[in-house]
Amino acid sequence: MTTPAMDASLTLVAQSHARQMALCEDLEAIADGLPGNVNHQLCLHLARVVCPTIAAAHEVEERVLFPAVQTLSATLPDLDNTIERLRWEHFEDMSFAEELHDALLSIGRGEPKMTAEAAGYMLRGFFESVRRHVAFEREMLSPLMQLALRKAG
Ligand SMILES: [Fe+2]
Repeated sequence: MTTPAMDASLTLVAQSHARQMALCEDLEAIADGLPGNVNHQLCLHLARVVCPTIAAAHEVEERVLFPAVQTLSATLPDLDNTIERLRWEHFEDMSFAEELHDALLSIGRGEPKMTAEAAGYMLRGFFESVRRHVAFEREMLSPLMQLALRKAG
């Protein structure tokens, strides 16, 4: 049994994960198209949205997901370390997103500042890291959040 407030929180987190996964798909399309088949408009669009999308997702997760899950840390003692690690991953992904913004902008303008190999490596490094992170939060933290909200409700 869930209340509308619980459902709203769970939906917010699910949307934040879905937006990050959609961003990863678009970034993968760019990486796959390098060097000769790049959608420049998509590149410029992604340059604009990569940082705001990641920042907004982290804001929701740190405001809604992490505090809800942390209410279970009395029964799951390693949880605090897990949350700390996820916060650090947010920090790293955000720094990475800023670098990606610059790279996408230069590729989108047709004036790449790095080789296609380096750009592909950078893009893949980012979206693989974000996918792993989101998969963990989806598979482990979201169910724990549901459990925590039921317990509290
Ligand atoms: Fe996250």
